[in-house]
Formats: sequence, C-alpha cells, structure tokens
Amino acid sequence: MSSFAYRDGRLHAESVPLDRIARAVGTPVYVYSTAALENAYDGFAGALREAGLDPLICYALKANSNQAVIRTLAGRGAGADVVSEGELRRALAAGVPPEKTVFAGVGKTRAEMAVALDAGIYQFNVESLPELEALAQVAEGRGKRAPVAIRVNPDVDARTHSKITTGKSENKFGIDLDHVGRVVSRARELPAVEPLGLAVHIGSQLTELQPFRDAFSKLVGLYGEIRASGVPLSRLDLGGGLGVAYRGERAPSPQDYAQLVAEATAGLDAQLIFEPGRHLTAAAGVLLAQVIYVKHGLSRRFVVIDAAMNDIIRPSLYDAWHDVRTLREHAGDAPLSPADVVGPVCETGDTLAAQRQLPELAENDFLAIFSAGAYGAVMSSTYNSRLLVPEVMVSGDDWAVIRPRGDYEALIAVDRLPGWLEDGGPESGGRAPES
Ligand code: LLP
Repeated sequence: MSSFAYRDGRLHAESVPLDRIARAVGTPVYVYSTAALENAYDGFAGALREAGLDPLICYALKANSNQAVIRTLAGRGAGADVVSEGELRRALAAGVPPEKTVFAGVGKTRAEMAVALDAGIYQFNVESLPELEALAQVAEGRGKRAPVAIRVNPDVDARTHSKITTGKSENKFGIDLDHVGRVVSRARELPAVEPLGLAVHIGSQLTELQPFRDAFSKLVGLYGEIRASGVPLSRLDLGGGLGVAYRGERAPSPQDYAQLVAEATAGLDAQLIFEPGRHLTAAAGVLLAQVIYVKHGLSRRFVVIDAAMNDIIRPSLYDAWHDVRTLREHAGDAPLSPADVVGPVCETGDTLAAQRQLPELAENDFLAIFSAGAYGAVMSSTYNSRLLVPEVMVSGDDWAVIRPRGDYEALIAVDRLPGWLEDGGPESGGRAPES
C-alpha cells in the first residue's frame, strides 16, 4: 500500500492528514514518509539477498541528504555514497559508519580527500589518473593507504535523459575501458593507494534493464582480466540508477534488477556495492503547495501556486513529469479540465506541470506534487530571494519538522557590503560618479 493515500477524503502521509501539516508549517513544504523510505530500502536489500547476494548498499546522499532521511535508511543498514565533504560530514553526523561509506565524483579536492582519509572511509571511487596521483600524495602525506576502486566508463547508452546519462565515452565520468589496466598498474606502483575494485555508474532514472546488463558484463569481463593478471581485486561497485515510475511508466522491479545482477556476477569472488539514490527516496516524498490565484488566459487555465522552480527544479531542468493531486479528494464525477500549474518565479520555465487534468481549483486549495523525495529539496535554492523550502518527516501518526523554513533576516544578512558602499543608502552620496 502506498504511504500516501486518501482517507475520509483527505490525502494522508501514513496516518497524518497532509492538510494538517500544510496549515501548521505553511507551504511550500516537503513531506517524507518514514514507512515509504524503510519499505523502499527493505525491498531493494531484500531482493538482492533473495537473489543470493550479500550487498553493501551505500545510499547516494545526493538524492536527499536531510539527516533524518539518512538516519532512517542507516537504521535499516544503509551505508553512504558521498560526493563532497559536505555530504561526508552529513553522513557521519547522521551516524553512518565510515567503513560503509564510499566517496564518488570526478572532482574530489585534496582537502576533501584528506578529510575522508582521516574519517577512514571504505573506498574512493577514482575517476582519472590525475585524481589517483593526487590521492596517493595526500594519503602518503598523512601516513595512510587509500582504498581505491577505479570507476570505469563502459561506453554504454543508459537511454535516459541526456543530462543524467553518465556512462558514454563523451561523458566526463570514469576511465575509458581501454585505459583502466594502465591506471590499475600505476596504482600498484603507488604504495599509498590500494587498488581493490572496479566501479561503474551509467546514469540515473534508468527504466530499462538492458543498459545495466551491457555495463555489468563489460565490467565483470574487465574484473576477470585484471584479476588474471595478478591484481587481487575484491570489490565491484555497480552504482545506482534504478528508475522509478513517475507517470505510470514501467520501471524495473528490484527483483528483476537483482536477478540481472546475480546472473552478471555469477561465480565472481567480489564484495558487491550498490549506490541507489532515487529508488530509495523518490516515492517517499511529496511537495505540498497552496493555490495563490487561478487565472484564466485566452487559451489556458493557469493555477498559480506558492511552490516554484527554486523549490523543485526537476520539471524545468529535465522536463520531468510529477503527478499533481489535490489534498482534498474530489468526487469521482467531478469535471476535470486541463490546467498549467505554475510558480511565481519570473520565468516561463517555472511551469511545474503543464496541461494536467485537474478539477476546479480555487484560492487557498492545497496541492501535492508527487514523487518529490529524490532530487527535490536537495536541489532547492533561494532564487528570486524566496525562502528555502522546509521539510517534514512523518512516522505513523507522528510528524516533525526536519528542516525549518528559512527566514528573511538570515536570507538578507548573509550579504556583506564592501567598504565603499557602507554608511547610508544612495541618498547619502556613496562614491562620486566619474566625471
Ligand atoms: N552513484 C553515482 C556515482 C551517481 O552519480 C549517482 C547519481 C548515483 C549513484 C545515484 O543515482 P540514482 O540511484 O539516484 O539514479 N538530479 C537528477 C539526477 C542526478 C543523478 C546524479 N548521479 C534528477 O533529478 O533526475
């Protein structure tokens, strides 16, 4: 059963009516369901275990890095996949053990490497030769040995949106298959790094299994070759990418994915690592908004809401489709008509949902934007000097604010005036115009 469902005419998250949260916290606000997070994690981990695998599941924090979300997943056994010092700090603060943490990303700085080495993380996924050399220097300087997996670019088309495809040779990620052997050899010459495995991640929101199959088969072949050459690799990191159904499309089930992995890695002596993000959090979150105005144009009905592209950028950035529903259930025979659900930001791209069949709507009605738990709040900004959107977590009939709404004083106070602009406003003179 979905964790978001109508009961007595009101949309609930678990046992909490969402309009209660909308009224108490105000809108826009993200709301996450603990049960949905836990079920997604248990479903993914359970499917892998049922397929006979013993996975290390490192939740990709980039999808949703609120500490309450991280801790909920860590409580079920998740480790962390981090891509920055900030994410590493969040993972540690939320209680993820460093020995279950992998550090990915094409541009780790030396300072970030030092923090991760000192924390004692499980693995660095290295994406280039210069990165390997830098890591070796940083580790040597600290008297440490860095555990390394080489991220391979398998040149496989993930058949997803071009902005989130990562496994083609023209993408910036990973090391080309043909160059991996050389990088592993170099790693063996460097005493401060220990090459332990290979990693791959070909993209996000994959709705077909074949690209995974193609990538894993190349990776496993290469793993075998490198082991045969005498390098004792013991880890394979298969990345994330498993898609979800935003619009009733058929996303692969964790069972089918697990089966595929079991087949691709059969007989292999390797610790398998996974980095799922979206699959664990997307369906566990909604963004609540309130109607400000309904505007009837010549050709369109515009529903202007108080959430905007700064709160959820996916529709503007990737033409992403998110379901929109009213918090109050409408009668089955209520007439529906097309509407554009738009935010207040001054860009036409600030259209959160175009031409959706929605019932009649009026000022102050509440709406929920679905499947917003992944890449929603984490990608929010204060564009247009709008306040950072708050987040709430529900558990059963309990709920709590897990990130409060920003406030205007703090928003404005971060700016600093340079000396020549201090002391009064424009009327007081300021710097004299050049003559
Ligand atoms: N591992 C690596 C190395 C990654 O780059 C990513 C995502 C993941 C794991 C997690 O992928 P997932 O399981 O969530 O598909 N902002 C975009 C998605 C960007 C994904 C970037 N990398 C969106 O809203 O669709």
